[in-house]
Amino acid sequence: MSHDPIRQGAPWTANRRAALAMGLTTAGLAATHPALAATAARGGGKEGKNAGPDAGASPRRRVRLAEGWRFHLGHAADMAKDFDYGQWQRTYAKPGLDGSPATLATFDDRDWTPVRVPHDWAVGLPYAAPIGPVPKDEEDSAAAHGFRAIGRDYPENSVGWYRLALPISKADKGRAVWLEFDGVFRNCKVFVNGYEAGGSASGYAPFRVDITDFLDTDGGPNQLALRVDASLGEGWFYEGAGIYRHVDLVSAAPLHVPQWGTWVRSTPDATGASLAIETRFANIGEQAATGAVRHRVIAPDGSIAAQTGPRPLALAALGEASQDESLRVAAPHLWSPKTPVLYTLETEVLVEGQVVDRVATRFGIRTLTFDGNRGFFVNGEPVKLLGVCNHQDHAGVGTAIPDALHAWRVAQTQSMGANAWRSAHNPVSQALLDIADATGLMMIAENRLNTTNPEAFGELDRLIRSSRNHPSIILWSVGNEEGHQASERGRHISARLVARCKELDPTRLTTQAMDRGWNEPVNAGDAVDVVGFNYHSEKIADWHTRHPGKPVIGTETGSTVYTRGAYVNDASAHVVRAYDTEYPRWASTAEAWWSIVTRDPSIAGGFIWTGFDYRGEPTPYPTLPSVSSYFGAMDLCGFPKDNYFYYRAWWRRNEPLVHLLPHWNWEEGEGKPVKVWVHGNCGEVELLLNGRSLGRKAMAENGHLVWQVPYAPGTLEARGFNAGKLAAQDRRVTAGKPAALRLLADRKRLSADGADTAPVRVEVLDAHGIVVPTADTPISFALAGPARLIGLGNGNPTSTEPDKGTQRRAFNGLAQALVQSAGTPGASRLTASAPGLRPASLDLFFHA
Ligand code: GAL
Repeated sequence: MSHDPIRQGAPWTANRRAALAMGLTTAGLAATHPALAATAARGGGKEGKNAGPDAGASPRRRVRLAEGWRFHLGHAADMAKDFDYGQWQRTYAKPGLDGSPATLATFDDRDWTPVRVPHDWAVGLPYAAPIGPVPKDEEDSAAAHGFRAIGRDYPENSVGWYRLALPISKADKGRAVWLEFDGVFRNCKVFVNGYEAGGSASGYAPFRVDITDFLDTDGGPNQLALRVDASLGEGWFYEGAGIYRHVDLVSAAPLHVPQWGTWVRSTPDATGASLAIETRFANIGEQAATGAVRHRVIAPDGSIAAQTGPRPLALAALGEASQDESLRVAAPHLWSPKTPVLYTLETEVLVEGQVVDRVATRFGIRTLTFDGNRGFFVNGEPVKLLGVCNHQDHAGVGTAIPDALHAWRVAQTQSMGANAWRSAHNPVSQALLDIADATGLMMIAENRLNTTNPEAFGELDRLIRSSRNHPSIILWSVGNEEGHQASERGRHISARLVARCKELDPTRLTTQAMDRGWNEPVNAGDAVDVVGFNYHSEKIADWHTRHPGKPVIGTETGSTVYTRGAYVNDASAHVVRAYDTEYPRWASTAEAWWSIVTRDPSIAGGFIWTGFDYRGEPTPYPTLPSVSSYFGAMDLCGFPKDNYFYYRAWWRRNEPLVHLLPHWNWEEGEGKPVKVWVHGNCGEVELLLNGRSLGRKAMAENGHLVWQVPYAPGTLEARGFNAGKLAAQDRRVTAGKPAALRLLADRKRLSADGADTAPVRVEVLDAHGIVVPTADTPISFALAGPARLIGLGNGNPTSTEPDKGTQRRAFNGLAQALVQSAGTPGASRLTASAPGLRPASLDLFFHA
């Protein structure tokens, strides 16, 4: 590990590891995603406070379990501090007192902390330096966690317990009741009334826990408890800890459609689309059951596009069955990134003529084609994949990202011009997939484990069954930079995983992200449909001559490292300038990879590493105080770095843009040369300093422009011309001393659902209202009204200030406060203040 890894364009050695569905807050998304809000009516739960029965007439009850949880740290090494978990020989001898008294309703949890789910306890832990030396070539687990004190070295911080009184009533008697967990990190055990009912080793795959048999439906308390053990990691990046995605309670009739029980495949043709519908049914009754099933397809405009009459259904006692149905939709509206229209399949189960169960399944009708010579096509139209890779992580909240914040992150990404997202390196939340469906964001859905043990197959099954109706998913990915990728073993493992993908979903192709071995006689690329190149875009053309006709994408591309708003390298402070110049040995600049991929139609596109900075894997500086990566086109708060505008210029080619860097505040630099860059897509750009022209230059396709400018305070301006006409402008103005604060939010009206969240942009201004681009002012926040401050951030990869609380410094002029509805309607006011500065306030209104 070098301590001075920065060299322009040169290799370095760093710490590199060799509205539409449940959960979307309709109102909250309305502003950023009207399409999403307009159709957010699936018979699902609500993200907000624990919701009651569905508003519609559905006889199925779905309750989002968000409020009312209590949390306490357990202990991974000391049973007494782990609520006696495992204390007795009889732990698993007789079901009913499985594990710990903390699983029973009688346990006193009044000193546990009330929390709201989604919840990531790791983001609230202190930072700590690694304990002991890290053997060469080993992942540094402390660095992987972004130096949060979690993992085997911190048994006192690595086990968490959750408790919740389940909202069960006499009405649930005789019904099938289960819990749907969208993701718990990790190794969790789920207890109901002292019975271990289920759990999941995976921290990413969704899972279901059947709790029917353990409930008291005669009015007794029903205690849910989870023990979550995050001692071990699954990745080399920050993974959070706890119940960081939604949990739903579902109560359904004895004869019902189980979780993920519907699957719609569509095949459009010249006159319409054929739908193949597979539905599964379960009967929890001890007698055989008969009934009927019928389907309706609701078009995007709400009309009925197709339907079936009731078809008879017969299930054995305690039995399961499945049924295939086909339907025809005339003149369908096709889903595409530009027209993300969705259909809904409504499936009803009837017994003696009464509807006893109803589920809604959202889907899209579209075709996807990968062509090894011509690239990628949606509905026959060529589409270049302009992609980002991302982990699930945001300032202030870690992995517990509220749905509205997912939507905001997607909007930021699309505004950069991206049309695709790779969920590195694990399944993402259903909430994010719903947003992708509704906004036309194409997804590569990746499984975590590239192996063939039962756990890996189980996770792959859960990934595909939970997500195969989402039109946004374009590929299943079965691996990433696997150690065995260039061997027969690696090929065979991937071949088995691919076979499983095809069995569960013959409609989609598969990929695997590789960082070497493409030209080995045997490699994992042979097993997948679309070969993934991590970096090395320059090697694709040569590889393609040996593999003619094989589809290829850049699964990880680019990878400039940079600190937002910094323009001078400072190794001692772990600061990397935000020109498109510094990148790791294995990677390239934005301009280098994009110039290759854009010109080669046989490459279907590329996914930059990464859209957003993420905690952990601190690169290029693998030691404290660096706690996050520097790869993002946006920082951890989603504030754009300068390359964001490089991509925007060329990915939204038809919208004239010029973007100037650096800022224009170089107090000590009068007369000294400053390197000025312009990103943009205008044919010519003129640069002016204080009104004086410094010349016009022609912009090369996919390039950028550079001027050396002797610094003088004032106004630096770039003017972009197309065919001689002014088409775009940008300026940097020298700011004075910090004098005031300003708060800005994209939306001031939010839903009072207890979940809707606004990321508030905090700016440090000079006396003239100009953002001071170097300000690191300490800011205090206060919030009044029905809202809560769920996290703070500033995008500084070396900040070890707490994410929670009411204080945060600005970083290069900006900070971010995440404000969430507290569940009741009304007006709230966020106030930001700093010593000697004019304070700022922002009114947010939470409506019912
Ligand atoms: C890749 C890897 C990513 C990340 C990246 C950093 O090898 O797939 O997860 O580690 O490198 O450059």
